[in-house]
Amino acid sequence: MRYTTIAAAAALACAPFTAAHSWVQQLRNVNNNGSYVGNWGYPRGYCAKGDSCDPGIINNFLIPATGLFIDDSNVLCKDSQQKAVQEDAVKYPRLQAVPGMHIALRYSENGHVSLNGTPQEDTNKFKPSKGGTVFIYGTTEPKEDEKLVNVLKWNKEGGGGDGRGVLLGTNDFDDGRCYENNNSPIAKARAALDPSYALGQTGEGNGEFGLPCESNIEFPKNATAGKPYTLYWVWQWNTPPGLDPNRPLGKDEYYTSCMDVDVVDTFSAEANAKPKYTTPQQDDASAAVKDFADRTAIYTNAIKGEIGPYFSKNQTTPGGLPASGTPSIPMTPGPTDIPPMSSRPGLPQPSQGASDGSGNIGNGNGGVVTVTDVVYVTVTAPNNGPTTLATVAIPTSEAAPQNSSGVQSVGNAPNPTGIPQLSQRPGRQPQATVNAAPFRGRLRRA
Ligand SMILES: *[C@@H]1O[C@H](CO)[C@@H](O)[C@H](O)[C@H]1NC(C)=O
Ligand SMILES: *[C@@H]1O[C@H](CO)[C@@H](O)[C@H](O)[C@H]1NC(C)=O
Ligand SMILES: *[C@@H]1O[C@H](CO)[C@@H](O)[C@H](O)[C@H]1NC(C)=O
Ligand SMILES: *[C@@H]1O[C@H](CO)[C@@H](O)[C@H](O)[C@H]1NC(C)=O
Repeated sequence: MRYTTIAAAAALACAPFTAAHSWVQQLRNVNNNGSYVGNWGYPRGYCAKGDSCDPGIINNFLIPATGLFIDDSNVLCKDSQQKAVQEDAVKYPRLQAVPGMHIALRYSENGHVSLNGTPQEDTNKFKPSKGGTVFIYGTTEPKEDEKLVNVLKWNKEGGGGDGRGVLLGTNDFDDGRCYENNNSPIAKARAALDPSYALGQTGEGNGEFGLPCESNIEFPKNATAGKPYTLYWVWQWNTPPGLDPNRPLGKDEYYTSCMDVDVVDTFSAEANAKPKYTTPQQDDASAAVKDFADRTAIYTNAIKGEIGPYFSKNQTTPGGLPASGTPSIPMTPGPTDIPPMSSRPGLPQPSQGASDGSGNIGNGNGGVVTVTDVVYVTVTAPNNGPTTLATVAIPTSEAAPQNSSGVQSVGNAPNPTGIPQLSQRPGRQPQATVNAAPFRGRLRRA
């Protein structure tokens, strides 16, 4: 019902800060020739569109939820992902992973790739190109109250920070292939190269699906079969200082997904196995990105990519790296006084989003623009008519105006009361019961 409310209020006036949202939606094993093999795996607490949940509220986790910068109080995992439990372990099980094999962690780009340079999208303004960097960390000693600042210190050698974990991968958010089905120039160009279809319908229809992005890692060779292993997906998408006139000090913006995999010795490598339960949004991609074994990122140092004062004040970072790459904070910044980026070697320049036509950002009227959200709602019968994995209904809270204090409403969204607190694994867990009609619509920003 809330969605029809959104549809009715299709024209929204809001500040030019739109909450982002991306989270890991599924995990696949990738064999040596790049094919997805074996069964699907899912993050902790995962629930998809088509279930009785709002995936944007259940799965999305923004850090910091309030304020501009992270500190040592920020917990890494969303409350529904702090314990190693699946929301429904039968429908959304853990991935079974083989030491030394590659893994793809798939997620929707939600416009942070495909809407770059379009007048419709302000979200990516002042942000690193390629959508920033995704850091993937692994540990066999997860903590329920894991802190973001501790995990950011973990390094490839396993010696960073408190030494409990290791940095497994550093990937650009944009994997070079993914797109939303939103008709933007980028989406159209990418769809022509890699059309995307519903599960089991490859080549049919006109490729109405979007193609999720993926992060790629090699699963640790020394992982122990028979044990669980925890992965943290940390998307660093910070705003550097001195670019956004409304946030002259810059702003931290992280999104995380926390998940466990079960380590197995051998792998029944049935090619592109079918999941027991398909979600209505499942796409039919059969192979990873071409560079799955050799992913890189424009900026690769999570500590240097951090904007706030936490690491720069403490000056000690993993591997003896000085935190000198952290930008100095301009004291009297202004729209006409944008400092050069030369103090941040390796940090990409923000994408130059085209003007939205209103010309309001930074021209002295308070930075308020009018964003028109065009909402397409298509209601179909349950379990019928797949929609895009990438398409996500934006809850009303995300459209709430935000002010220059950096307050983000989405991260504050309360957990639905219908999700039970689960205390044990494995085995089937009770499903949330929410008396809501399944939503099969799609909501696009246009
Ligand atoms: C695996 O290797 C990493 C370093 O790459 C180390 O931190 C970790 O403790 C090792 N794990 C096991 C189970 O030996
Ligand atoms: C890659 O591996 C998959 C799964 O084993 C197989 O079906 C496919 O034919 C292989 N492709 C090539 C080009 O070898
Ligand atoms: C510096 O590190 C200490 C110990 O980890 C932490 O408690 C403190 O908050 C940090 N200070 C700053 C300014 O980041
Ligand atoms: C912005 O939000 C903060 C936190 O809610 C509030 O304290 C502040 O007054 C707001 N500022 C403006 C200009 O609305």
